[in-house]
Amino acid sequence: MKVWFITGVSRGLGQAIAAAALAAGDRVIGTVRNGTAHVENAGDRLHLLTVDLAKPGAAEAAARQALSVHGRIDIVVNNAGFGVIGALDDLTDDQLETLFEVDVFAGIRICRTLLPHIRVQGAGRILNITSVAGRAPGAATAAYAAAKAAVEGFSAALAAELTGTDIHVTAIAPGQFRTDFLENATMPKDGQTSAQNGGAAAKALSSLRQVNQRQLGDPARAAAVIVELAQAAHPPTHLLLGTDALTRVRQKRDQMDAEMTAWEAQTRSTDFDD
Ligand SMILES: NC(=O)c1ccc[n+]([C@@H]2O[C@H](COP(=O)([O-])OP(=O)(O)OC[C@H]3O[C@@H](n4cnc5c(N)ncnc54)[C@H](OP(=O)(O)O)[C@@H]3O)[C@@H](O)[C@H]2O)c1
Repeated sequence: MKVWFITGVSRGLGQAIAAAALAAGDRVIGTVRNGTAHVENAGDRLHLLTVDLAKPGAAEAAARQALSVHGRIDIVVNNAGFGVIGALDDLTDDQLETLFEVDVFAGIRICRTLLPHIRVQGAGRILNITSVAGRAPGAATAAYAAAKAAVEGFSAALAAELTGTDIHVTAIAPGQFRTDFLENATMPKDGQTSAQNGGAAAKALSSLRQVNQRQLGDPARAAAVIVELAQAAHPPTHLLLGTDALTRVRQKRDQMDAEMTAWEAQTRSTDFDD
């Protein structure tokens, strides 16, 4: 029976991952902000901690509390997060700071607190929920893409640091999933963006509003894949979830390849001769 620590199990992907882990017979310690969570198959194998990850010290305190419940954590899922969406012109410092506190720093602090204990255990899995926006950013997501790209970079570097151990890190990048993500995202109200009318950011905002609660991705199916990944002996460092994510990242990779080839001579021209 493995012990999972999952942030943000009140709803959405976190709730689905908790339900799938419990259905697999494991134990879950999950964080919520308001003290309740309706997770299927919970029984007495679900332990909730009330945590607002935007508060100073909250992430480390939650990780220490989680560790004290069963004396070990086998699988960490840094899932809690939200989006700040809109044209760069509309972003405030407060929005940026809270976004990075919750979506970036909380997960890093949780890893830093738990890793010494996981090292002593000799095995563990760290699953960081990022986003396709972090790998193939689109208009109106400058802040969110920056936050998720930061977690992608952190995850890959930590995975490299843990080479040769049975502790594996995976950055999991979902495409669009049918959760409350877009309801909860900080977004300018309809017609209130300072982005140029008809410009790319305004168009992106409008299409995000249209896709709300009609997203392609099923959180329960994502959770099933995440449980499979947590059980794998050799999990990948990067995983995409959803056909939309696959298409976008492949397009981005092709575009980057084309740019690298087109500018290869200039790239190579900057080396010293010796
Ligand atoms: N759905 C998508 O299309 C999508 C795509 C790519 C990546 N993601 C990522 O997937 C993760 C889960 O999102 P979701 O789609 O499941 O969205 P969601 O339904 O809005 O759930 C977000 C979860 O994060 C928690 N949370 C938000 N701010 C928090 C804070 N300050 N402290 C503690 N917990 C906090 C929420 O708690 P409350 O219930 O208290 O608000 C909730 O449990 C996020 O990291 C998101 O960026 C989602």
